[in-house]
Amino acid sequence: MANASWVFTPTVPHFNKPMISPLISTFRSRVYPHDRILKRVLCSSAVHGADKVSVSELKASRVVGKGCKLVGCGSAVPKLEVSNDDLSKIVDTSDEWISVRTGIRNRRVITGKDKMTGLAVEAAQKALEMAEVDADDVDLLLLCTSTPDDLFGSAPQIQAALGCKGNPLAFDITAACSGFVLGLVSASCYIRGGGFKNVLVVGADALSRYVDWTDRGTCILFGDAAGAVLVQACESEDDGVFGFDLHSDGEGYRHLHTGIKANEEFGTNGSVVDFPPKRSSYSSIQMNGKEVFRFACRVVPQSIEIALENAGLTRSSIDWLLLHQANQRILDAVATRLEIPADRVISNLANYGNTSAASIPLALDEAVRSGKVKPGQTIATSGFGAGLTWGSAIIRWN
Ligand code: ACO
Repeated sequence: MANASWVFTPTVPHFNKPMISPLISTFRSRVYPHDRILKRVLCSSAVHGADKVSVSELKASRVVGKGCKLVGCGSAVPKLEVSNDDLSKIVDTSDEWISVRTGIRNRRVITGKDKMTGLAVEAAQKALEMAEVDADDVDLLLLCTSTPDDLFGSAPQIQAALGCKGNPLAFDITAACSGFVLGLVSASCYIRGGGFKNVLVVGADALSRYVDWTDRGTCILFGDAAGAVLVQACESEDDGVFGFDLHSDGEGYRHLHTGIKANEEFGTNGSVVDFPPKRSSYSSIQMNGKEVFRFACRVVPQSIEIALENAGLTRSSIDWLLLHQANQRILDAVATRLEIPADRVISNLANYGNTSAASIPLALDEAVRSGKVKPGQTIATSGFGAGLTWGSAIIRWN
């Protein structure tokens, strides 16, 4: 159990009340006014009941940095490759239909005893290696996933597998295909408002477990993967998270969901006779593809424009457009609306399909390691999906 006490020195007029949640305050602003940000926030934390390290070792003063930057990335995919032709053997479809409508040709699927957390650990290790940061120096781990190996959350298992000795906070963020962008923005808020120094953001999903493999309308779309980014505190002049925009619309839930099965949630007539309730399970992915398609093409360009405005930048500043890899036609439509040339759009969905929260860090990792994305370049990134949720961030690589 962790206790945290906060001491802060407000330097701007609207921070005139005790700042119980720096995260919320920063979220409200949706933009980081570097000159107005809190100059100094001290946070000390003590963990009780942790037998690996003493309380004194865990009492660390944190000075809030004014900036944060992406310093490492990594990714991992399962070995099993499933092509469109393979799928045409189990559902009435064809390579031509899938590739023309979606751009997808292959996807990776976990098998046997493989778990989502295994991929997540591999991706996180690679991100730490690239960043040259020791696992012990990670002070927060955010796992963005809708398919945890454990309903109670899988982030702490990743923290343990990485060998982070200081018991840093690790928890799951569930926002489907928008999860990674939300994780990235959350990381920046924890660094700016909470004094965290090294935040590992992992996007990992295994939607293959929730796909109905007899439904050709959905099973052709999804694949499994993990990607990770290390976000690090830095001086304001090196800041690499410029502005963001986040939303959700629960009314749109009906277009894309994997809900708890209603008939197993409660007893048949809700009476006490039906106690105890049956164990719950989730339905397979239910999606109205056309509506989700329209939603994405409508909200993503708007959201990127807002994030750019919050960052004080214009479209001409964008070196790369990095969208959630759902469908090549969505990527093309958004790029056209934003007047971004096709050769500035990062796309790897042909090889992996829609990997949900993993898709953005997986594509970023490939683009960085291949030398496509270079240090100092500006990326407009946007996630969208179930919830419905969507959000964008304007970031700089390293
Ligand atoms: N193979 C062959 N035919 C198919 C297939 C298939 N795999 N799937 C559907 N069809 C058929 C349909 O039955 C329909 O036939 P009909 O005209 O005889 O009725 C026809 O093809 C057209 O079907 P539509 O569903 O209208 O096809 P559409 O052009 O909309 O493409 C698609 C479907 C690819 C799913 C598209 O709507 C899409 O990509 N939507 C966005 C989905 C998405 O991005 N989801 C992201 C989710 S992110 C998250 O949070 C999980």
